[in-house]
Amino acid sequence: MDFPGWLVCPIKMYFLAVVWSALAFCFQHTSALGTDKPNVLFIVIDDLRPSLGCYGGPIISPNIDQLAAQSAVFTNAMVQQSLCAPSRTSFLTGRRPDTTKLYDFYSYWRDAAGNYTTLPQHFKEHGYFTASIGKVFHPGIASGGNDDYPYSWSIPAYHPSTDKYIYAKVCPSIDGSLKSNAMCPIDVDKMPEKTLPDLQAFDRAAEILRNLSSAETFKDRLEDIESMETVPTPSHHMKTPFFLAVGYRKPHLPWKYPKEYQTLYPLSSVEIASNPNIPDQMPSVAWEVFGRMRKDADLRTLKLPLPYGTFPLSYHGPLRQNYYAATSFMDYQVGRLLNVLEESGFADNTVIMFVGDHGWQLGEHGEWCKFSNFELATRAPLMVHIPGLTDTRWNSVKKFNLIDPLQTEKKMTDNAPIKDKKMGTKLDRYLHKNAVSDVEILDERQLYTFTEDNSTKNIERLDNAYIEDFVEFVDIFPTLADLVNITIPPICPEKSFNIDFCSEGVSFAPLIEHRMRDGISSGNSDRVTNFRRWKNATFSQYPRPRVVPEDEGSDVPHLVNITIMGYSMRTREYHYTEWIGFNHITFEGNWTDVKAKELYINAIDPDQNQNVADDMQYETLVRDLSQRLKRGWRDCLPN
Ligand SMILES: *[C@@H]1O[C@H](CO)[C@@H](O)[C@H](O)[C@H]1NC(C)=O
Ligand SMILES: *[C@@H]1O[C@H](CO)[C@@H](O)[C@H](O)[C@H]1NC(C)=O
Ligand SMILES: *[C@@H]1O[C@H](CO)[C@@H](O)[C@H](O)[C@H]1NC(C)=O
Ligand SMILES: *[C@@H]1O[C@H](CO)[C@@H](O)[C@H](O)[C@H]1NC(C)=O
Ligand SMILES: *[C@@H]1O[C@H](CO)[C@@H](O)[C@H](O)[C@H]1NC(C)=O
Ligand SMILES: *[C@@H]1O[C@H](CO)[C@@H](O)[C@H](O)[C@H]1NC(C)=O
Repeated sequence: MDFPGWLVCPIKMYFLAVVWSALAFCFQHTSALGTDKPNVLFIVIDDLRPSLGCYGGPIISPNIDQLAAQSAVFTNAMVQQSLCAPSRTSFLTGRRPDTTKLYDFYSYWRDAAGNYTTLPQHFKEHGYFTASIGKVFHPGIASGGNDDYPYSWSIPAYHPSTDKYIYAKVCPSIDGSLKSNAMCPIDVDKMPEKTLPDLQAFDRAAEILRNLSSAETFKDRLEDIESMETVPTPSHHMKTPFFLAVGYRKPHLPWKYPKEYQTLYPLSSVEIASNPNIPDQMPSVAWEVFGRMRKDADLRTLKLPLPYGTFPLSYHGPLRQNYYAATSFMDYQVGRLLNVLEESGFADNTVIMFVGDHGWQLGEHGEWCKFSNFELATRAPLMVHIPGLTDTRWNSVKKFNLIDPLQTEKKMTDNAPIKDKKMGTKLDRYLHKNAVSDVEILDERQLYTFTEDNSTKNIERLDNAYIEDFVEFVDIFPTLADLVNITIPPICPEKSFNIDFCSEGVSFAPLIEHRMRDGISSGNSDRVTNFRRWKNATFSQYPRPRVVPEDEGSDVPHLVNITIMGYSMRTREYHYTEWIGFNHITFEGNWTDVKAKELYINAIDPDQNQNVADDMQYETLVRDLSQRLKRGWRDCLPN
């Protein structure tokens, strides 16, 4: 296989050229052999809700916040189903669950739906070296038993050896015994193999990055990328761009993390949900019983009654504390990864996308976990770092200073920048900016202070880097292809089972360009004027076995037991859901068999505490929204 020569053109210019397609600054430097491509670092976090510092939330996440300060940060990014395997399969194929036919964990799209080209596969087929570390695809049946290797990856996917101890009895309990708990602060040295999955995932990613940056030439290895057994070690003259996907496990349950992180969140400082009750008029089918949290040793003793028994308020603080602490631990592993990226010389030619695979409920509505169509479950963090475009206002010597959250907290206390950890005020006000237009939003600009070369730096929110426009996770595939200028998958036709290369999302690269333009000396752009309005709605769905949840398994029904599908649509003003009969053999919903409807009005009820779908005064509105929901996502694309 031949590899193209390399441009000397700075990547900064490259991106101006890509995103402002009218401009072509790069071409003056184009070599005869081809065009340089930026690398991609794709970071996927399990069960991460947008309660990070950079989203106005209470979680101490200085490293992710530092990335956010140099990225386009999306505040209305919605997943297509709030469950790991269906969500990941959806965004890695760029297709919605009704097209991947995966709503549970038990089928592989290539066998069950169609031989769809994946996001990493597309990069691989365009000459990229692609590698998967940790949980990227949902491992197991959902990705063919091998994380879709070799189609998606140049080398077999790496899984930490300590993944297997997930339920090991290693968590110290009050009585002194070791148990398999949900809340599990530990000493790493006392763990099997003296490490944790996310520490191992970092080690492996760092090794690959260092190998990739090594100056040695391994020409023979590069000759056949298909048969590469280890990471290529490119020289300046012969290099392969990489697509490195790193999936961290925390803050997924169980919350097993080095115990120091717990001290970041004294219980007295942890605010609990202001709306811990089941929403008014909520139909039973909307409820999920967080079966996953009824199993661990420290929680099952509560014997919460099914289906509506929920955790006593006294548990809310500790549960949140552990979720937050596990997230700060993960933040540090993100910081270490970015630090190695920079030390390896890749910080200026790597697009970084950072996502959570779906949201998480932490006691709001009395709910926990994901498994629902509530916005807390469908909204997830999504940010994109594009060198030369999103980082132009960053004025630190280094891009990715490694910031220890444990140290940051100390500094934070000294300076007390966001000590007012009011969950449900800042975050919600920020996220619902559109609904409540006259609220002062980002009141505290300074997030963290850290020291660099004996001078103090602040990480600030850059207002223009927050993008409120709707994006869906199916847009990730076309967007990344757009950003590195490889073929963008076209929009799929109505039934696309026999079409390998298409997607049910659109590139949001033009949106980023549009929002960043003010920070960069101006240029022409017909990309932005190509559409008059952006997406006006997002779509998510969730399956159920029956109208009333009966057992712990009802949150995650196997395909054969799915009889109902909840289709949800979020517009600027409304969140509207219909739960309808669903045939698991034909994969079709029956819109005349409506089990329940939900309507939440963002302007008056941003927290979704009151379902007003059956309120007579909204009869016409509900009819209208119902029509729009049935017409679906195609009707809401940018135009
Ligand atoms: C994008 O790729 C196409 C085809 O490979 C090439 O003709 C074009 O010049 C590239 N555009 C930029 C801005 O690099
Ligand atoms: C599916 O696609 C892959 C990659 O393009 C190809 O190698 C394989 O033969 C295809 N499988 C089928 C059953 O068509
Ligand atoms: C990195 O390079 C070293 C030395 O060549 C090699 O032993 C190791 O296997 C490589 N690591 C990976 C992940 O390929
Ligand atoms: C389907 O549901 C029934 C009744 O709850 C249960 O016994 C059965 O195990 C489920 N099937 C699968 C494949 O989960
Ligand atoms: C759809 O549901 C309606 C109402 O329950 C029922 O009469 C009809 O037979 C269903 N259609 C299909 C195709 O199942
Ligand atoms: C989005 O806008 C289109 C018109 O461009 C309209 O037909 C559609 O109903 C709108 N969708 C929603 C959900 O508001």
